[in-house]
Amino acid sequence: MQTVQIVPAPGEGSAGAATKPSVDGPRRVFLETYGCQMNVADSELVSSILRGDGYERTSDPGSADVLLVNTCAIRENAEERVLGRLSELLRHKSARPGVQLGLLGCVATHQRERLLDRAPYLDVIVGPDGYRDLPALLRQGDDPQLEIRLDRGETYAGLTPDLAPGPRAWLTVMRGCDKFCTFCVVPFTRGRERSVPVESVLAQVAAAVAAGKREVVFLGQTVNAYRAGDVDFAGLLRRTARVPGVERIRFTSPHPSDVGEAMIAALAEEPKVMPYLHLPLQSASNRVLEAMHRGYTIDAYRSLLARVRAAVPGIAVSTDLIVGFPGEEEDDFAATESFLAEAAYDFAYLFKYSAREGTRAFRMTETVREDEKQRRLARLIALQEQIGLEHNRAFIGREVEVLVEGPAKRPPGFVAGKSPSFKTTVFPAAGASAGDLVRVRVQAATPHTLTGVRVAA
Ligand code: 5AD
Ligand code: SF4
Repeated sequence: MQTVQIVPAPGEGSAGAATKPSVDGPRRVFLETYGCQMNVADSELVSSILRGDGYERTSDPGSADVLLVNTCAIRENAEERVLGRLSELLRHKSARPGVQLGLLGCVATHQRERLLDRAPYLDVIVGPDGYRDLPALLRQGDDPQLEIRLDRGETYAGLTPDLAPGPRAWLTVMRGCDKFCTFCVVPFTRGRERSVPVESVLAQVAAAVAAGKREVVFLGQTVNAYRAGDVDFAGLLRRTARVPGVERIRFTSPHPSDVGEAMIAALAEEPKVMPYLHLPLQSASNRVLEAMHRGYTIDAYRSLLARVRAAVPGIAVSTDLIVGFPGEEEDDFAATESFLAEAAYDFAYLFKYSAREGTRAFRMTETVREDEKQRRLARLIALQEQIGLEHNRAFIGREVEVLVEGPAKRPPGFVAGKSPSFKTTVFPAAGASAGDLVRVRVQAATPHTLTGVRVAA
């Protein structure tokens, strides 16, 4: 699982003129997504399930018959934000009788029945394993309909998600997590680990290629724990590389304990597997790693990182770190800070610890005050900004191949895409558009972006 940010699903807005819900035509659904890429991919499944039941998507909540919010429970502020958003959407339901409001995703399984007290106006509450039932639940009358059971058999195999526009397809290859890190709600909100059958993954890859996608990104909470029959994650990467038409393969998020030699060899030997690895560390103190139940020591992690970098020269590596875990002393934090400097990651997703009900760490006494968490976070951010800038500056003067995603946020007339090592790269469009693979010479760098010019083919 990678960073969890609030991301509206592509093509969706949040406001619109109040128009009437459809009376005769197809029922319209407004679907908004918060959280990680897994949630975005789940919304693509939900969209496909509802379309199969005759619904049409709308980006205007004011004209929707059904308003759905796919939610994230990873940290407290994410959870509070989506609950706030629901109370905002409530006005559409109050204004127009018959409109239904539903909550999907991790908050459904995290808050469970308590949601009926917190948000009694909800018509449906459906967890990550219940989406196939959504059409039936929406058809049932007035009482709030709950489907929050976790189902260790559900992989949504056989369903074709409604892929978002753009050259990249995000495909879920495994669901759930069996690691039970003590700070994390995911094993409780998404349930046990299970993998999508390999034939189903390969069929989705082929369908994505047929739909014009050039890059696939495999998703899973611990994606490299993938195993279906005798195919492990390395095998999945190698088989995918042989699907005709696939040009780039990525994945997120792997767990360090599941990175084996076969996976490193696949990264090194398969040119279509892009040279970028997210390797969440969380803390560099063995004491904290143990309390987090991460399953590795800092020495084991350091050696893994060295093996990956030796096998794949120039590979970009990123990480996740948490500051302020219960019991994190100044010297534990100092170990993390000094490892961040040593490891020299290309990017790092940095978080303050947030106590989540239901986890083992929730029962530990919090020892780091909010202002101290903030101080530690700020130190890591400042350090990583410098390191990221150094990495990116090293690209100045070099050429990178960019898969164009569309217009850059700025400046006007520029397009943006990703380099093989997942660096956001912007350059004057000069005729390039979404889906093009373009060679770009890098001329300038910030900690998060490369800027360049197109090289004549
Ligand atoms: N508090 C803070 N950060 C968390 N993460 C997961 N759970 C928590 C929590 N309770 C972070 C981890 C994980 C990333 C997706 O979110 O760093 O790798
Ligand atoms: Fe959460 Fe740990 Fe599983 Fe990642 S590996 S989803 S942090 S429990």
